[in-house]
Amino acid sequence: MASNDLVSEILELKRARNAVILAHNYQTADIQEIADFVGDSLGLSFKAAETGADVIAFCGVHFMGETAKILSPSRTVVIPDMDAGCSLSDSCPTDRLSAHLAAHSDKNYYVIAYINCSAGVKALADVICTSGNAEKIVGEAPADRNVLFVPDQNLGAWVVEKTGRAMDLWPGNCYVHVEFTRDSIVRAREGHPNAKVVAHPECTLAVRMLADEVCSTEKMIGYCRASSAREFVIVTESGMLHRLRREVPEKFFIPGPTGQCSCADCRHMKMNTLAKLRDCLADLRPVIEIPEDVRSRAERSVRRMLELSR
Ligand code: 13P
Ligand code: SF4
Repeated sequence: MASNDLVSEILELKRARNAVILAHNYQTADIQEIADFVGDSLGLSFKAAETGADVIAFCGVHFMGETAKILSPSRTVVIPDMDAGCSLSDSCPTDRLSAHLAAHSDKNYYVIAYINCSAGVKALADVICTSGNAEKIVGEAPADRNVLFVPDQNLGAWVVEKTGRAMDLWPGNCYVHVEFTRDSIVRAREGHPNAKVVAHPECTLAVRMLADEVCSTEKMIGYCRASSAREFVIVTESGMLHRLRREVPEKFFIPGPTGQCSCADCRHMKMNTLAKLRDCLADLRPVIEIPEDVRSRAERSVRRMLELSR
């Protein structure tokens, strides 16, 4: 089917279903263009919590659809591809976290979970954070508790640097962001000597140290807009380049190269297509379902984050 027909079909289904289309900054350009809202994990969580739509079509990865369902249990949450997971979320399975907490009960951990985790892990956490609010959330952690930060050790280490708060870090990472290397970013700097380097905090310390700015995907937009620089090397997933080029058209954006490639694609994010979006709106599946006891416990920790982020 021609792309225009597909777009019309999606818009028609969206009206018929009273649906809202939410898309993460890492989605392909065609999905970003058709979405009602494109943003980072924090912005998308607020949108999911506030929507009046009957159906949320969430174009992102599985844990993002789950977060929408956690916050809006009365809505039908569909995602284009049930197999769109997240290596970071997978690095902290619920049963392993649960066993770790039981084995270290003497530590009386206050658990801060980065939003890239399953509903089961969110249910075990005291509070959730995103890359956009991690400093604030960690800064609010009770001073008399040991903090366990899961599942991203790179983002956790970055927050320790920023806040000075000691935390035990779960040994997980994002397979996309660890593909950027010191050498690949040094090469990019040499090729674009006037560019500012902007990196996501899921990158390794070696890469973060080479960056002019380390921030969440959403904050990248404000940073690039406000900067006096004209060129930027964007060290995160490639979908972010579309959002930046659309919103800051007067500036020039270069994808950060990895050790192997000229840019980084998340294979999970890129599983979503317009055709699958059409199908999930037509069929109302794949649908996100979470056992109510898990959902309600996860909601406490996600809502705590939203309250601390307003
Ligand atoms: P943001 O919260 O910055 O959108 O990042 C989400 C993500 O999956 C990063 O890999
Ligand atoms: Fe997960 Fe990394 Fe993909 Fe983000 S980019 S969804 S953290 S695998």
